[in-house]
Formats: sequence, structure tokens, C-alpha cells
Amino acid sequence: MQAAWDHVLITGASSGLGRALALACARPGATLHLSGRDAARLEDAAAACRAIGAEVRPAVLSVTDAAAMAGWIGGAGRLDLVIANAGISAGTGGATEPAAQARAIFETNVTGVLNTALPAIDAMAAQAPGADGVRGRVAVVASLAAFVAAPGAPAYCATKSAVQRWAEALDATERARGIRLHAICPGYVRTPMTAANAFPMPFLMDAEEAARRTLAGIARGQVRVAYPWPTYAMARLTGALTPALRAWIFSRVAAKGQAR
Ligand SMILES: NC(=O)c1ccc[n+]([C@@H]2O[C@H](COP(=O)([O-])OP(=O)(O)OC[C@H]3O[C@@H](n4cnc5c(N)ncnc54)[C@H](OP(=O)(O)O)[C@@H]3O)[C@@H](O)[C@H]2O)c1
Repeated sequence: MQAAWDHVLITGASSGLGRALALACARPGATLHLSGRDAARLEDAAAACRAIGAEVRPAVLSVTDAAAMAGWIGGAGRLDLVIANAGISAGTGGATEPAAQARAIFETNVTGVLNTALPAIDAMAAQAPGADGVRGRVAVVASLAAFVAAPGAPAYCATKSAVQRWAEALDATERARGIRLHAICPGYVRTPMTAANAFPMPFLMDAEEAARRTLAGIARGQVRVAYPWPTYAMARLTGALTPALRAWIFSRVAAKGQAR
């Protein structure tokens, strides 16, 4: 499906899924606002999008900088689609999750999403509806980890659950004023984030396929865009187990390693 949004803003576009989303949105006539922290990788993604014909405005900044994010998003002009994609992950390696790691994951994956979505919603409320009657769409990249309290990644699972629930709940009220929210819940995607995982990753998919499914779900108006279905079903099933049974099952699988 060809993405049809003219004005798109994506955080974490310098790598993995964010870069694939940017490329999938790139076309002549589209303006892409792309952010990341690594200037060289961000510029590489921007150049690839320009080569397809998009106008690209890159911004090197951290999603954890609330003032900088508000300034960037507030000054972007019309925004049809904002994708709060930037995120970090780390596990426990089977030990206690270090406090600094837990704080960093919450700061990026929850506060960073709020720093993206809240100014975007403010900006969209003040803009006219598009041809589809929607003023703007905010897609929050959560994960299928949102549905499982995995002992090997406490902070990661908790942050993804928080933003998935926040986006879905907010959509119910924001759609009354023409703003839509989408909770994106991918399974395993082949990106630098998953490259070091030593455990099995069933139904691992390429970032291009994940981007295609993400944008197709948003275009269909789905509040929750969860894929692929076998991993989703497994996540829902595992999430429904008792904590004790879940902990026992996870104790038999290698945990994701700690941040280095
Ligand atoms: N890969 C998976 O299997 C999977 C599955 C479900 C959900 N997700 C989610 O998908 C999103 C993208 O992950 P990915 O797999 O594409 O990982 P990735 O390749 O590591 O990319 C992460 C992106 O987030 C950016 N980022 C991290 N911290 C940031 C910060 N403080 N400020 C601004 N940008 C920041 C990075 O930018 P720099 O590199 O420039 O710092 C990078 O562009 C994440 O939210 C992740 O949790 C991934």
C-alpha cells in the first residue's frame, strides 16, 4: 500500500523501523521531518528519502529533551502523521535490572513518547481536517511486549504497555475532535535492537515488512496495529498466564542482555 500522507514526522528515523517507515512514506510531494541522535545515520536516512523525491527536514535531538521536542514539533507546520517510534531496549540477562537502565528506558520509551505525542496533538487540534476528515494521526510504536510482563525485560515491557494503553485510551476521546491515535505493536523485527538477542525470535520480519504493515494498519484506521498474528496470539496467551507460571516458563529461556 502506498502511504498517502503529505506531512509526516518520525522520531528515531536514523535506524531500523524508523528508517524503514521514513522510506515507505517518502515520495515526491511529501515532506518528512525526521529525528534521531546520530547525525551521520540520520543524514544517511534523509538522503535515501530525498533520492525517492521527498523533501526532508532532519533534526538531531533526543526525545528526552521536552523543550527541544516541543519547539521542533510546534515549528514543523502541518503534520498529517506523527510516529513516536524512538525507543531503547535492554534486558536483565537473568539478573536484577540496574536502576539506571530502568530509568533510561522509562525516560526514552514513555517520557520521550509523551514529548512527541503531546505537542503533536496540540498542533493537530489547531489545523484543518484533511480530505479524510481527520486533522492528524499520532502513531505510538509500542510492541507485542506490551502484553507480556516478561521477567527478562521488566522496564521494556512496562514502558511498551504504558504507551500502548495510553494511545488506545486517548484515541477514544481525541477522535471526537478529529485526531486519531494508533498503538503500533510489532513482533520481532530485524533491526540493530534485536541483533544481539541470543534467544529464539519466532516470525522475525524485516523492517521493511514491519513498516508496510504499520502504515497499512494506520491507513485502515486501526487503533491497535498488532502483527504478526501468531506472535500476537502467543503474547496474549502468555500474558494471560499466572505470574508464577509465566516466570517459570521464562526461566527456561535465555533473557535479553543488559545495556552496555
Ligand atoms: N526491533 C523489534 O523487534 C521491535 C519490536 C517491537 C517494537 N519495537 C520498537 O520499535 C522502535 C524502533 O526500534 P528499532 O528496532 O528500529 O531499534 P533501533 O534500530 O535501535 O532504532 C531505535 C531508534 O530510536 C532512536 N532513539 C533512541 N533513543 C533516542 C532518543 N533519546 N532520542 C531520539 N532518538 C532516539 C535511535 O536513534 P539514534 O540511533 O540516532 O540514537 C534509533 O533511530 C522502538 O520503539 C522499539 O521499542 C522494535
